[in-house]
Amino acid sequence: SLVTTTELLKNAQEGNYAIGAFNVENMEMVMAVIQAAEELNSPVILQTTPSTVKYAGLDYYLANAKVAAERASVPVAMHLDHGSSFELAMQALRTGYTSIMIDGSHESFEDNIALSKAVVDASRPSGIPVEAELGKVGGKEDDLDGGEGSAYTDPIEAKIFVDRTGVSSLAIAIGTAHGLYKGEPKLDLDRLSEIREVVSVPLVLHGGSGIPDETIIESIRRGICKVNYATELRIAYSEGVKKVLNENPETIDPKKYGAEGLKCVKEFVKQKIEVCGSNGKA
Ligand code: 13P
Ligand code: ZN
Ligand code: NA
Repeated sequence: SLVTTTELLKNAQEGNYAIGAFNVENMEMVMAVIQAAEELNSPVILQTTPSTVKYAGLDYYLANAKVAAERASVPVAMHLDHGSSFELAMQALRTGYTSIMIDGSHESFEDNIALSKAVVDASRPSGIPVEAELGKVGGKEDDLDGGEGSAYTDPIEAKIFVDRTGVSSLAIAIGTAHGLYKGEPKLDLDRLSEIREVVSVPLVLHGGSGIPDETIIESIRRGICKVNYATELRIAYSEGVKKVLNENPETIDPKKYGAEGLKCVKEFVKQKIEVCGSNGKA
């Protein structure tokens, strides 16, 4: 069934595991994530970024997610990832998304608070939880270059931010980056622990692609409750499609290569669900 992320993240926090949040861009990717979650009896979060939403519309992706969720034996949430404006957040809310991120991390501290609080206040009547971000995750995010440098989240600011905005969960920057990393990523795990000590809402790790599984597991041990994966799903899907088209260039049935893309995404997602430890938690 389609649920909000409130209960999912609360259970994850209490149970010391994380929910995988997987960026989906087409029907096969939705099917792949849901099949993976069902096979492992895991709750799961589907999410779409603004550039994905622009491709087909919030309603189109939500329709896919709804059908998948209605058929599924596990709880499924549909989340707006990196909501880029108050307006888009409200559109997602009205469309029926069950979880919203407002990303004011590119704004000043005060402007980020004002924007995030506005979305929290507007979402409260419908009971839809809001994720916000403090600090800057590096790399290229949703086709927008994150720009130079990543600003790590300051624990004291994080506490003030959560108190003043009332957000349901907080995305933090601890050396994380979107996309694959050049070399081994160095995450500031002590900073994560410091943030956990002063912030009680569930913490979210962005930039999951390219982070070694052991590092993800340690970050969950230290308080991460949601882990975002995007780039590696794109890679998995595209590799599956390319494999079929390379081996049989005359293939014209989109279902043939779509099915192989689906299979590759599903394998990837199953492995990450186990890393997150949410298998068997549905
Ligand atoms: P990756 O593309 O590095 O997996 O990052 C995912 C993410 O943070 C989506 O918001
Ligand atoms: Zn992200
Ligand atoms: Na990454």
